[in-house]
Amino acid sequence: MKFQLKNVTRKFGQHLAVDGVNVEIDKGEMVGVIGRSGAGKSTLLRMINRLVDPSSGSIHFGDVEVSALKGAGLRNWQRDCAMIFQQFNLVPRLDVLTNVLLGRLNHRPTALSILNVFSREERIMAIAALERLGIEQTALQPAGTLSGGQQQRVAIARALMQGPKVVLADEPIASLDPLNAKIVMDALRDINEREGITVVTNLHTLDTARNYCSRIIGMAQGRVVFDGTPDKLTAETVQEIYGADSHGAGIDETMTSTSIRIPGAAAAVGVPASPGFRTLAVAEA
Ligand SMILES: Nc1ncnc2c1ncn2[C@@H]1O[C@H](COP(=O)(O)OP(=O)(O)OP(=O)(O)O)[C@@H](O)[C@H]1O
Ligand SMILES: [Mg+2]
Repeated sequence: MKFQLKNVTRKFGQHLAVDGVNVEIDKGEMVGVIGRSGAGKSTLLRMINRLVDPSSGSIHFGDVEVSALKGAGLRNWQRDCAMIFQQFNLVPRLDVLTNVLLGRLNHRPTALSILNVFSREERIMAIAALERLGIEQTALQPAGTLSGGQQQRVAIARALMQGPKVVLADEPIASLDPLNAKIVMDALRDINEREGITVVTNLHTLDTARNYCSRIIGMAQGRVVFDGTPDKLTAETVQEIYGADSHGAGIDETMTSTSIRIPGAAAAVGVPASPGFRTLAVAEA
């Protein structure tokens, strides 16, 4: 089933956060959405998940008009369309296993959900999801005691428990160090490749998008200004997406979460200090 965004617009007051976006995404694609802060990336994802409603236009998934769903239909959609956030959105005081099981909530009657009663099958499923992400040993720890990278993996396990058709990830690695960023991106790639789940992820870092996504959508001021394969993303287009901030110095593609950042090193190597750090790509040992 494919996604279609038809002339989707979202206004906040007079401000056009997303401006007339037309996009079609086929089942099984792995799409990276890039753009400057405020370009409308999060608003776009949140509209797909219906955390935010479009001001105009429509969103379709197969035959379903997602943007018109209400009640149970909307809840089912939010189950089918799992969302992963930069800040993980786990319940820190609950143990990891329970956090993962919470991904099942929309699959069960309300009474059982309230009682937090999960079946043996569901528990086995949750452990399997944790194992797949290499963090089964944390199952009984409070989620808040895990490292950021581990917490994001718990969030992915929870998303998998939803049995999603689509995974939306809003800056999933923006709070992570390079190694954990790689682990999390590898996990997203894995669920895309193995289960054929469509993944749409907002990314701050261009080379992560290039490395992991078969398709890149570039946004600037609410509009789609690039939509294509990574190899079509030229320096000129990058300039258009990221705009004037680069001061003609070009965009440093090594500004990336999958590389090691050396704070303050910018000055030392004589490049403009505007990004605040210079990066050093590391061989992935
Ligand atoms: N709830 C809201 N109320 C008012 N304005 C909003 C709201 N949400 C987003 N905006 C505005 O819409 C624009 C797009 O915001 P959005 O969060 O989608 O950008 P973004 O591309 O995700 O940025 P970032 O890279 O910083 O996450 C911004 O100008 C933002 O201030
Ligand atoms: Mg955002």
